[in-house]
Amino acid sequence: MRKLTILLASCLLFTFACTKQENKTDKCDQFVDQLMAKMTLEEKIGQLNQCTSRWEMTGPAPSSEYSQNLLEDIKNGKVGSMLNVNGAKATREAQKLAVENSRLGIPLLFGYDVIHGYKTMFPIPLAEASSWEPELAKLSAQVTAKETAASGVHWTFAPMMDVGRDARWGRVMEGCGEDPYLASIFSVARVNGFQDSDLSKDNTIAACAKHFAGYAFSESGRDYNTVDIGSYTLHNIILPPFKAVAKAGVASFMNSFNLINGTPSTANSYLQRELLKKEWNYKGFVVSDWASIKEISTHGAAENLKEAALLAIKAGCDMDMESHAYPKHLEELILEGKVDEQLIDDAARRILKIKYKLGLFIDPYKYSNKKREKELVYNEENKAVARTVAKRSMVLLKNKDQLLPLSKEIKSIAVIGPLAADKDIPLGSWRAKAMENSAVSLLEGIQVAVSPKTKVNYSKGCNLSIGKRGFRTELTYEENNKSEFPAAIKAAQNSEVVIMALGEDCWQTGEARSQTDIRLKGQQLELFEAIKKVNENIVVVLMNGRPIAIPELAESANAILESWFPGSEAGNAIADVLFGDYNPAGKLTISFPQNVGQCPIYYNHMNTGRPTKGGNVFWSHFTDSPNTALYPFGYGLSYTSFEYGSVSINKNNFTKKDSIEVSFSLKNTGEYDGEEVVQLYIQDPKAKYARPIKELKAFQKIKLNKGQSEQIRFQLSSSDLGYYSPDGEFLIESGAYNIYVGTNSQEVQKVNFTLIN
Ligand code: NOJ
Repeated sequence: MRKLTILLASCLLFTFACTKQENKTDKCDQFVDQLMAKMTLEEKIGQLNQCTSRWEMTGPAPSSEYSQNLLEDIKNGKVGSMLNVNGAKATREAQKLAVENSRLGIPLLFGYDVIHGYKTMFPIPLAEASSWEPELAKLSAQVTAKETAASGVHWTFAPMMDVGRDARWGRVMEGCGEDPYLASIFSVARVNGFQDSDLSKDNTIAACAKHFAGYAFSESGRDYNTVDIGSYTLHNIILPPFKAVAKAGVASFMNSFNLINGTPSTANSYLQRELLKKEWNYKGFVVSDWASIKEISTHGAAENLKEAALLAIKAGCDMDMESHAYPKHLEELILEGKVDEQLIDDAARRILKIKYKLGLFIDPYKYSNKKREKELVYNEENKAVARTVAKRSMVLLKNKDQLLPLSKEIKSIAVIGPLAADKDIPLGSWRAKAMENSAVSLLEGIQVAVSPKTKVNYSKGCNLSIGKRGFRTELTYEENNKSEFPAAIKAAQNSEVVIMALGEDCWQTGEARSQTDIRLKGQQLELFEAIKKVNENIVVVLMNGRPIAIPELAESANAILESWFPGSEAGNAIADVLFGDYNPAGKLTISFPQNVGQCPIYYNHMNTGRPTKGGNVFWSHFTDSPNTALYPFGYGLSYTSFEYGSVSINKNNFTKKDSIEVSFSLKNTGEYDGEEVVQLYIQDPKAKYARPIKELKAFQKIKLNKGQSEQIRFQLSSSDLGYYSPDGEFLIESGAYNIYVGTNSQEVQKVNFTLIN
């Protein structure tokens, strides 16, 4: 206790002494400098060491040697941060070990994967991006930060901003989809939501930009697989969101498991030292991914753990998550003269500064407060926000003959499918402290929404998966059990409309959940075909975390609503949409392929040398599938319709200083009030380095009452036309450009202009 008192007293005295000083950053620097001056090398290395708790693990279990020593290590100041410790009680206990026993009483930093909610689950990030409302992502991050902080956790390993183009990769659910511009905007919104402008507030937490960099480009979408991308893709597609959040002040970065040009990211000096810390002048710290320092040698880029530690610290990886390489080898490497002690100082200083900014030196227990935890976590207010975010994230993919919205007075409705009454799957994967089976199921949502006179006929029809399910477990699908088909068929026969809930088990997506087949698993399609024979009026509600290949549903379901994994309020939010209390306005931010063979498929692709069909076979195509997506980027329907007026541009020739103004009228021509996401893309058809056929550069979500119209204006500057050369130089080239405006990436109008010098 004495150490804690001394540390706190010096912090308070220091704070007091500094009140007249210019700004907080100076105070922070000075405090950390003074603290560092008191620290031994071993204590500094301790700050660089992050260990997992032993009761929750989000990666391979560490060896028992480390587990046994953990408590003693914390007491001896050899651990600076822990992950997977959460809850006011547990964090207080762990913090006490560090603060009351270690020589300087430096508080621990608690990190946790809070990806789309702490206990109140919001829709998965990919879904949230489909809202095209960054403010909504900010709001959910704010609520999440409030719950997380009230549970003693200081730092989330989110947002993930890997631009994901490959539906086979299970982690596309964690990102924003295939577009770097959209990913930048959403990632900044999330960072602002988590951190606000002041980390020391008790409702904010530190964020983490991950995975730096290239992780989503694993070959064939197989998680942890090799990545081999050119520097052109790196600079133009992968890095922009990272650069945007670095500028926005994200507290930390996490590097990634993959190789970049033969060097594991964790050992990559160019990314972490040259680009991030030097060119972008980033002042936060970089944490490794789970055991990614150790894996430098598994990749074959280091002889052993010691060399891996050497490469990682030199490359700019500040904190070691679960490799135990830094505590084991850094001191020795310094004594041998292989590592400059200044590198350790720099890393420790970066980490201590974030602890300072979080206010942990004023009160290391400020976040671990049971009363606040009880009041703020999973309360009705948070659930109401989750419902709003969920309904606004859904995408209407098909609505033949305006089958939707349904009347709440409908006489009978069948609710069928393995996901229809499920209360767990809608929570999604990466669910932090969500309670199992705590979501409002689709069936429950429908039962509450419809009139008391409506007959709801439920039947599961089939199972999707069987046996044990969970974050660390491989799933088994049900392939051979049609015993519940007859009951489902009967329910469909006895109902006016059938709602079929199909898709994925939530444990099909997330880390280590890659698939070579992205069609509906198990017997779901067979069930659909069987139901279709007895009732044509089928509305499919999809729950899934990646694009799935559903050409059969697209062909013969009458309506399809993509609800993703909507979170705690799933059933209520889906019912809001199905019965028209909310008119859907979401649009896809990742292309839905016709089949897995098209993967990776993305709208912003290159033209190729042979893009169009000629009189023969020699053009860039598949012989057994179209090139186009089943549902393209930016696609989504509404219950109403919108008419775009013709697009005009304020000039034909612009200088680099001019503002490029694009305008057109938008009219709600349908029967409902609604919202439309208007999208603007550019194309540089001839550049020094070939450019994609389209690139999203601006969008707006416009609300129009029925019959209402509005003049829409976009303003671009010449920097919006720029791109990076393969060497990372930002180029704005003069010449001809095309602008495309429309309701999705395919249905667009074109105008053009010239940029003159
Ligand atoms: C590995 C994942 O790649 C990363 O995203 C996560 O934050 C860490 N494990 C910690 O759980």
